[in-house]
Amino acid sequence: MFHTSYIEINKPAFKANLRFLRRLAGSNVRFCSVVKGNAYGHGIEHFIPLAESCGVDYFGVHSAIEALRVCDIKKSGSHIMIMGMIEDEELEWAVQNEVSFYVFEFERLEAAVRAAGRQKKRARIHVELETGMNRIGFHWEERDKLSRMLLDNREHLHVMGVSTHYAGAESIANYLRIQNQIANYNRFQGYLKKKGVKTDMRHTACSAPMISYPQTKMDMVRIGIAQYGFWPSKETHMQYLVSSANKKLTDNPLRQIISWKTKVMSIKKVAAGEFIGYGTVYQATGNMLVATVPIGYSHGFSRNLSNLGKVLVRGRRVSVVGMVNMNMMIINITQCPDVQRGDEVVLIGSQNKNRITVSSFSELINNVNYESLVRLPKDIPRFIIE
Ligand SMILES: Cc1ncc(COP(=O)(O)O)c(C=O)c1O
Repeated sequence: MFHTSYIEINKPAFKANLRFLRRLAGSNVRFCSVVKGNAYGHGIEHFIPLAESCGVDYFGVHSAIEALRVCDIKKSGSHIMIMGMIEDEELEWAVQNEVSFYVFEFERLEAAVRAAGRQKKRARIHVELETGMNRIGFHWEERDKLSRMLLDNREHLHVMGVSTHYAGAESIANYLRIQNQIANYNRFQGYLKKKGVKTDMRHTACSAPMISYPQTKMDMVRIGIAQYGFWPSKETHMQYLVSSANKKLTDNPLRQIISWKTKVMSIKKVAAGEFIGYGTVYQATGNMLVATVPIGYSHGFSRNLSNLGKVLVRGRRVSVVGMVNMNMMIINITQCPDVQRGDEVVLIGSQNKNRITVSSFSELINNVNYESLVRLPKDIPRFIIE
């Protein structure tokens, strides 16, 4: 295989997530699958055809370079929306290829109009409104100029969407801020509408607001983390349970679609009192049996999981001992003497009845799922499990 580990993507689990999320979004709400960051580490080359085979036809990316990659992979009917960075000189490519992009300042709007004029084609834009996140977006104070420019350049612009992004809807601590943002969005969008700016869709919600603030669903939801089977936070999961009747604490309609696996590379006995791995961070408390696994921090298994991480082997949960190295780590198999060289080791996923979730190893090191996932290197081979 020429690789030390591989990733499996479970299609039935993705289908189940999609069914659940579409039901939650509502039948008239378009579903945009957010695939930035190499489809949150799942592997864009594999994920796009998988999503398309399940009926997804709208994809959100961060940048023009990501859009270019998706263009090469997607079916002709699917649409790509760039939610972040695009250079002025990339705009013509976007217009030509009917890729839509966020516009959040006048310079880009002017450049989009020029690119559309040169291409003799309307630029497909999403007007991003600043509602309180203070990241990107037009300010309320710019409303007159914005509406005038949109109306004056109607023949060059197709306003596909009017959008905004919420500043942390996964945490109840941000409740008032999100409510203010919703009000600011409605006021701004209402103003543009009153001025005669026509738009196909209002879209504001990603995973957390869709679940916790149903009024944010509007005409399209942009869903990243939840489609891969993760709650944006424990609070969001709890809010879902509270809002739906007869739910038990253990109910979880989302299924993690990713598994990450490797093999036992070597096994060795270590005598009581010996140190294991680099330095003196782990000393054998008794006679031990350990196995080396060919995965390290260069593969996205954080060094912070030294002496902390867990993996599955022969269906048992065992501990990482000592430091996680760049390309290897050592696990304690003293309680599983039947383990052999070549045995499957699960880094994320399940084996028998045990399971290692991304959240379990993210939380150990105070990380978020998003970051642990996108750190999985692009060159680990991915396989779809049908
Ligand atoms: C503009 C925008 N929309 C949607 C998303 C998807 O968010 P989530 O993964 O929480 O669903 C993101 C991700 O950060 C985003 O930046």
